[in-house]
Amino acid sequence: MTRILMVCLGNICRSPLAEGILQSKVDPAYTQVDSAGTAGYHVGNSPDRRSIAVAKKYGIDIVHQKCRKFDPSDFKYFDHIYVMDHSNYEDVIAQAQTLEDKGKVKLLLEEVSLGITEVPDPYYGGKDGFEYVFDLIDKACEAIAQKI
Ligand code: 4NP
Repeated sequence: MTRILMVCLGNICRSPLAEGILQSKVDPAYTQVDSAGTAGYHVGNSPDRRSIAVAKKYGIDIVHQKCRKFDPSDFKYFDHIYVMDHSNYEDVIAQAQTLEDKGKVKLLLEEVSLGITEVPDPYYGGKDGFEYVFDLIDKACEAIAQKI
């Protein structure tokens, strides 16, 4: 079983999409996918309605996800921890205790060659931002699904 954790700041916009998109591309018998946020502002909440809507548009249901905060114990459970931006990277790496922990953390867009390294935070923007973010995450998740 390969265990993959998707991490963003709030765990209501980007990482819930990443969880749902990757889940849709892998066999649940072999790959477990979860998501978390580095901040605890929205713990227990459903994903942002704009993320739910764009996921639904592409046939992915993320309605039942619940926001949770990243916990240092996640380093032990998960094999790969994908973060959406450099700020998430710093926040997660700061909680790592070992070199092995640190080695599990990667920027999601390192999996693809799109000429950018970050999935931008769409929270304060409009609907178009969520389409853009969906597309970036989808490309990276396709690459991950191909190699696991
Ligand atoms: P996310 O977006 O990190 O993609 O879930 C955000 C959601 C909420 C906030 C910031 C970013 N917030 O400040 O509440």
